[in-house]
Amino acid sequence: METGDPAAAGTDSGDRGALARLVDDPSSRKQFLRMIGGAGAAGAFATLAAACGEQDTPIGITQRDPGTVPAFGPGDVGIVNYALTLEYLEQDFYEQVRKSGEVTKPALKKLIDEVYKNETEHVAALEKTAEQMGRPVVRPKVNFDSVLEGGQPRILSESAKIENLGASAYLGQAPRVNDKMVLAAALSIHTVEARHAAAFNKMAGNGFSGKGTLIGTIPDGPFAKPKTMQEVLKEAKKFLPEGIPELQSPGA
Ligand SMILES: [Fe+2]
Ligand SMILES: [Fe+2]
Repeated sequence: METGDPAAAGTDSGDRGALARLVDDPSSRKQFLRMIGGAGAAGAFATLAAACGEQDTPIGITQRDPGTVPAFGPGDVGIVNYALTLEYLEQDFYEQVRKSGEVTKPALKKLIDEVYKNETEHVAALEKTAEQMGRPVVRPKVNFDSVLEGGQPRILSESAKIENLGASAYLGQAPRVNDKMVLAAALSIHTVEARHAAAFNKMAGNGFSGKGTLIGTIPDGPFAKPKTMQEVLKEAKKFLPEGIPELQSPGA
């Protein structure tokens, strides 16, 4: 069943995202700066371009070849299927948590219910997008027994990590997306994942800045750090006993 070993994944150096093109192409950059306006915008763009990942390396350079996972499909639909896999994981996690009855603290219970609703809508939107663009990925088999056995404290700490992972996953794909509507949707979801992460991390008492890349309301400091598909899937696979799922059969 497992078809997408991240370690065996290739890269697609020809696959240039909208943001990477913007960083490297002076004429597109000029047009973009004219659009958002003024000399201040130029300074802000330079700061942004230099800020992600290594402080002295432009964002488009650090994330141009983050590696793809062929099992998800090529290009933008591959990114959508990757995102959908992570959303399935989030949705199933909160569903199992809710059914387990382990969470008794009212504030955490309420937060999990609200986040679960968001995840369900993320899944529905991405399923629809993947269907329109190509073949959606199959919902993966998941196992959260180790978290549920740890009870409420473990559920809270893992929720905080999963959400930070989701936020960094979307950010990692932003420079690779070609379709502007897909990019807008990805950024819209990225923001929500980061807010989920902040809410759980605050409740867990993890503090403002991180004790690790997945811990803290603002784990990376002033500029969020992206994670590649491989980095994210390495973390996620502890909950995916059968690995990355296949794509649905054509016409399914
Ligand atoms: Fe989500
Ligand atoms: Fe989330």
